[in-house]
This record gives sequence, structure tokens and C-alpha cells, in this order.
Amino acid sequence: MTAQDKDPVYIADQLIAEDIEAYLHKHQHKTMLRFITCGSVDDGKSTLIGRLLYDSKMIFEDQLASLEKDSKSVGTQGGEIDFALLVDGLAAEREQGITIDVAYRFFATDKRKFIVADTPGHEQYTRNMVTGASTADLAVILIDARQGVLTQTRRHSYLVNLLGIRNIVLAVNKMDLVGYSAERFYEIVKDYSHFAKQIGMDSFLPIPISGLKGDNIVTRSAAMPWYQGPSLLAHLEEAEINTSRMQDGAFRMPVQWVNRPNLDFRGFAGQIGSGVVRPGDAIRVLPSGRTTTVKSIVTYNGDLDVAVAGQSITLTFADEVDCSRGDVIVAADEPCEVADQFEATLVWMAEAEMLPGRPYLLKIGTQTVTATVTEPKYEVNVNTLEHTASRTLALNAIGVVNISTDRPIPFESYSVNPDLGGFILIDRMTNATVAAGMIHFALRRSQNIHWQAVDVNREAHAALKTQKPAVVWFTGLSGSGKSTIANLVEKKLHAMGKHTFLLDGDNVRHGLNRDLGFTDADRVENIRRVGEVARLMTDAGLIVLTAFISPFRSERRMVRELMAEGEFLEVYVDTPLEVAESRDVKGLYKKARSGQLKNFTGIDSPYEAPESPEMVVNTVELSAEDAADRVVAAILAR
Ligand code: ADX
Repeated sequence: MTAQDKDPVYIADQLIAEDIEAYLHKHQHKTMLRFITCGSVDDGKSTLIGRLLYDSKMIFEDQLASLEKDSKSVGTQGGEIDFALLVDGLAAEREQGITIDVAYRFFATDKRKFIVADTPGHEQYTRNMVTGASTADLAVILIDARQGVLTQTRRHSYLVNLLGIRNIVLAVNKMDLVGYSAERFYEIVKDYSHFAKQIGMDSFLPIPISGLKGDNIVTRSAAMPWYQGPSLLAHLEEAEINTSRMQDGAFRMPVQWVNRPNLDFRGFAGQIGSGVVRPGDAIRVLPSGRTTTVKSIVTYNGDLDVAVAGQSITLTFADEVDCSRGDVIVAADEPCEVADQFEATLVWMAEAEMLPGRPYLLKIGTQTVTATVTEPKYEVNVNTLEHTASRTLALNAIGVVNISTDRPIPFESYSVNPDLGGFILIDRMTNATVAAGMIHFALRRSQNIHWQAVDVNREAHAALKTQKPAVVWFTGLSGSGKSTIANLVEKKLHAMGKHTFLLDGDNVRHGLNRDLGFTDADRVENIRRVGEVARLMTDAGLIVLTAFISPFRSERRMVRELMAEGEFLEVYVDTPLEVAESRDVKGLYKKARSGQLKNFTGIDSPYEAPESPEMVVNTVELSAEDAADRVVAAILAR
């Protein structure tokens, strides 16, 4: 055999020449390992990735070609120059990519295909790291042999472990710069073991390498005869991939879509998250809990006798059982849990801090629901592993919270099944992903609290009062005239014999909400409570008037969604800031302007005007009396 016979590019060319089908078959049936590289800024990530791409010889062929051309045009030759150019190119690309997301690079050996997520090292890019790690089978944690374990090493290791990556390589890089010292290597390994144990990391594989010189990357290095383990690439080729691990679990498949091309065919498409399925298997659809058996497993390449974790399939059922997108099909005798309250870890990834009580969208599996988050039970200091008290989570913070969803969802603990235990939170107004989360367990109270049916129900209460209950929600700046108008409206309705109740910001803040101030988080909680109270009062058959600044669209929308269609009337008391400020009935604007009062709406705290309120009242053009008459007319016109 010549050296050429071992060259993967040469072999591939030969195979293609001989039999294109055989080549494609071989390539397609290689397993794929996804991994992430992480570490501090100067650990030599680009060099390492460059080395893997370069030495595996299967980098994008045109990239190689253009690199060769470049190196020729500057009049150089030889492998090391190409390699240096490649590394520079990767580093430049990553710098540009930083603001976008994660750079994914592909390469292959004749044993396996690889996708490596290349993420920036700075703390502010936690988000990119979490994105890259969320789909990874393996993580390479890079350490500069001269530096040892650093803050970012700990931070990334914590996140990687939190995200459930079990295959961890500790690549101690730049060994050439410490004279290939075994002593230094073992010192770092000992240090890291100590930290790994503290965060509950089961195991990791330490490899001494030099990305620059190529030591222990593809083959074992002659410079470090004391190291007896595999080279990095040899380990990457052998490491277990998640989908093969997930095959041991119970059958779970989140339904992506319902395939109904005609009346005779109804199939449920998705990717198997864990386990194995065969025609004839008894299955259960969650959350409904209905059972049936699998009739067939359909794919583009014909029906299957068996399908396993990682495969995308369509299932047909033996019976007509309701099943739709977001449901999870599970083994009938091994179902997962269903609940609407959980404890979870959150990694906060947005500039805007978390607001306890605000509704966010929660996306889990193929399902999206509305969810609210409680104040953190604690925040984790990743460097010291201390638990600290915190009222919210800021960018990059990691904390443990309770989450409640607007309906029960099938789930598993993240450590058992990342597919059904991992979720993201999305801001409903901006559509930005604000957090990644991992479910620990369901709160028992969510299973033990049921709706109690009452005989004298909301209809009965309303009928006795011969009126239709409603919430009339006044919103606007402080001093806009909300309370004045709401008060007049109530007097008029009362005179007509209507049963009403007025909830006013200043009054409620003396009692029920006396523990709340004016931070964003407290205002969210203020409105959440008032919304629930208003809703209860409509259950009692009342027409409820509320006068709160309620500065955020999110929370006004949350209250709207608590109410039935047509029962929520948003009245925007549209008074310009200058006018409200010139009135300054309570002297608060003056205090705010002079800096004596912080977080004052319109001054140093935002007000988000309604986009489509049921009514806008202009208090500059209208008297309070006239405004009140119009609101009363709108209430009665329903
Ligand atoms: S909300 O923003 O949470 O809806 P709410 O309507 O309950 O506010 O309370 C607003 C009233 O509290 C104002 O009318 C004003 O009298 C008083 N107040 C005291 N401090 C502030 C502040 N920082 N911002 C706004 N209002 C304040």
C-alpha cells in the first residue's frame, strides 16, 4: 500500500470513479457526531478546529483549492502555510459570526461525519454557547496548558454539564509551550477533577494536545510517550452519539404535524426522541391519555418494521384517536408525566431582565404554550457555585425558578430526556428567545389542585344582577385622568342600577399590593394580581372598573386573555405627558424631575401605549363628564 492509498481524499476519488452509488451509500450511512468546542478567548480554538479540518483532509474542497491558490500567489508552498491561512480564515469568520450566532463547520473522516459548533469565548456570548451546546453529543473543553483552569473554563463546563452533555473531553492545549510536561498536564487534570466533582460531572477524558503542532490530534504524539490514551480524532470517531443512547429509553415522539393527504390516510409525523417503535405496539397520546396501537410506520422510502430514536417517521393508528401537533406519542405502559407547574433551571439570555409574573411563550418539543415564571428560588454563581438570593435574572444569569404553563404539557426531566425536558422562553412582543430552560420535576401541587365545580356559577351570579359582567380597563400615565373618569363612570352605572366595583391603583397599593413598589417586576406583579381579582369579580357577576397605569402591553394582554371574548374593554386615557405633568395633582412629577422619586412612569420608566384599545379618550378635547358618558355608552352597547 502506498501513502496515497491511505489518503481519504484519494480513496474517495477512487470510490467515486468505481461506483458512485457505493460511494454515496457509504457516505450517507456514516454516523454523525455533533460537538462543541469551548474555552477561554486565547485557548487556541481556531487552531484546533483548523487542525481537525486540515488533518482530516475533508474540508470543503473549494476552500482548500482557494487556499492553495492564495498560498501560491504569495509565493509560498508547503502544508504549514496553508494551515496558517486556514486558521486565520476561521478566526476572521468567527469574529464576524459573533453577532449572528454560532459557526457550524463540517468535516468527515472515512469513519464518521462531524459538525462542530464554534462559539466565541467571552462571557457575553453565553447565548451562542448554549445554542451550540443544545444539540451537541460531545464537548471539547480547551485549556491553555500555561494558564490552567480559568473562570471561563468553569463557566463553560457548568453550562455543558447543565445541558446534559455527557461526553466531555478536556483538551489541554499548547503542550508544546510547557515542554510537553506530564507533570503540568496531571496538575491541570487534578484541578479540573476537583471542579468537575463539585458540579456533578460524572466523567471526562483528558487529552494533552498541541493544535498548532498537531500533537495527539490525529495520531498519538511521539513528543508525549507518557500519554497512553486515544488521539482526539480517534476519540471523536468512537464517542457515543446521543441518538444511540436515546434508543434505550421508552418510546417518545412529539408530533410535528398531522399528515392528511386524503380522507383515507391520517398519519402523525415527527422525529422519535427516544426508544423504539414497531407496528402493533400499544401507544398513548398525551396529554389526552387516549390509547391505540400502531398500524404502520410510513417513510418516503416505504413502510418500516421498526424505527428508532433519531428517525423521522409518520405513524398511523389502528383507531381514530385524536392527536395533533404538540401532542406526544408514548409507549402505552410507560407514559411520561403531564403537568402544568414545574421547577426548572433557566439560563437567561436577553438584555432585558426576567420579569416574574410576565407571560412568555414556552416552546418545548413541538409545542408552544404560554408560561409565567416565579421569582428565582436562587441564582447560581458559576464561579463559586454559591447559591445567591435574587429577585430577577439578568443577562447570562443562571437560576432556579418555578414555571407555570397555561395548560398541562407532557414532559420528562431534562436529565432523562433533553427532548422533552428542555425548552426555550420567547418574549411575546419582540419574538426574541430570552432563555433556555431545563425541567427538573413537576410541582406536586400541580397534580393535587383541581377545579372545584360550584353550583352557583358565573352565569347564575350575572343573571341575578341582570347584567353582563365586564372588565373596563383604564390605562394611561399618572395624572392622565383614569381615576377621575372611572369614578364618574361608576357613579353613572350605579345610578342606573348596575352592580359595579372600582379597583384603583392608589387604593389597592394600600392593601393587597402594599408589598409592591414601582420596579418593572413589581408593576408586572401588581397587574397580575389586579387582573386575577378583576376576573374573580366578574365571576361574581360585577362590572369591574380598574384604574392602573399598567404601563406594559404584555400584562394588559395577559388580563385580556383571562377574560371571555367581549368582556374586556381597554380604555386608553390618552393624555400627553406635558399635560399630565402640568396638572401634577399629587406633586409627583416635580419630585421625579428633581430626582427625589425614581422609576416614575413617563420620566425614567416606560409607558407602552395600547395598539388597539376598545376606546381612546382624549382628555384635552373632552371633559371628564363627556368622556365618562362615552365609556358608559360603550359598556351598555355590548
Ligand atoms: S402601575 O404602573 O403598577 O400600574 P399603579 O397604577 O398601581 O401603577 O400606581 C400608580 C400610582 O402610584 C400613581 O398614580 C402615583 O400616584 C403613584 N406613584 C408613586 N410612585 C410612582 C412611580 N414611580 N411611578 C408611577 N406612579 C407612582
